Amino acid sequence: VDTQPSARPPSGPAAAPASSAGTAWFRPAGAQESVRANRSWWDAEADEYYAEHGSFLGDDRFIWCPEGLDETDAGLLGPVAGRDVLEVGCGAGQCSRWLTMQGARAVGLDLSAGMLAWGRALARRPGSPQPVLLQADARRLPFADDSFDLACSAFGAVPFVADPWQVMAEVARVLRRGGRWVFAVTHPVRWAFPDDPGEAGLTVLRSYFDRTPYVEEDGTGRTTYAEHHRTLGDRVRDLAGAGLVLEDLVEPQWPPDLEQEWGSWSRLRGELLPGTAIFVTRKPS
Ligand SMILES: C[S@@+](CC[C@H](N)C(=O)[O-])C[C@H]1O[C@@H](n2cnc3c(N)ncnc32)[C@H](O)[C@@H]1O
Repeated sequence: VDTQPSARPPSGPAAAPASSAGTAWFRPAGAQESVRANRSWWDAEADEYYAEHGSFLGDDRFIWCPEGLDETDAGLLGPVAGRDVLEVGCGAGQCSRWLTMQGARAVGLDLSAGMLAWGRALARRPGSPQPVLLQADARRLPFADDSFDLACSAFGAVPFVADPWQVMAEVARVLRRGGRWVFAVTHPVRWAFPDDPGEAGLTVLRSYFDRTPYVEEDGTGRTTYAEHHRTLGDRVRDLAGAGLVLEDLVEPQWPPDLEQEWGSWSRLRGELLPGTAIFVTRKPS
């Protein structure tokens, strides 16, 4: 199968040979269809995902991306102590625990019970920070207006939904005036390249402008995973439509001392192409 830029292990550069196990290709996928599929996918893959990436992420660290950018060094959120902070698509809650350790009142929200189960297991370690963890869809946040000072996401929810403008609108709604929303996603440029950490990942195979989502389906045609592309301009328009102001767009460079690959993120590609885009935005005062 072919996989697009994602948090998932890479497989091959070309689209979509059908197999008994299913098919991976590019075809339309609706909003509910995508959420349903991704909830099941993350539930089923939670153990494997943690086994593969848990040590890189660290159990109580805030790592923004496969380039290893650490919020301790980056400070993209600004001061967090004493603030109400929402983490969208928190997975196993690593960032939310780091935020709690810094004195924030952190809430980690995720669609997947399987990912949250890892978060709860890690919070049972003696002395572990204890953020609130809850299950919900980022497209319908279960909070009152103006509930949070800050919101953040490290590859959570946003790349997976068909209607990311809905996530932007919801985050804008629950943020207090002046609050920052910082989120990391796969850099849109990556969409044009095969999901391969090697040489094959350096040749454009798809149009950057083709928004048709990457979809996996089972033998019955049922969608089992979906990832959605937005161009850089689309992302900016999603933010503007939600009334958010873009303050910075961080494109972390591959660090000289990082050898560990993450899926299709490798030194080879990372030194030539951006892999991650981190949008630093604010709700106007
Ligand atoms: C790549 S993980 C990111 C989590 C964490 N930062 C990490 O690196 O492990 C993506 C997470 O987004 C969550 N997710 C996907 N769609 C979502 C949605 N609609 N609402 C909330 N969370 C969602 C998944 O369940 C998964 O835990």
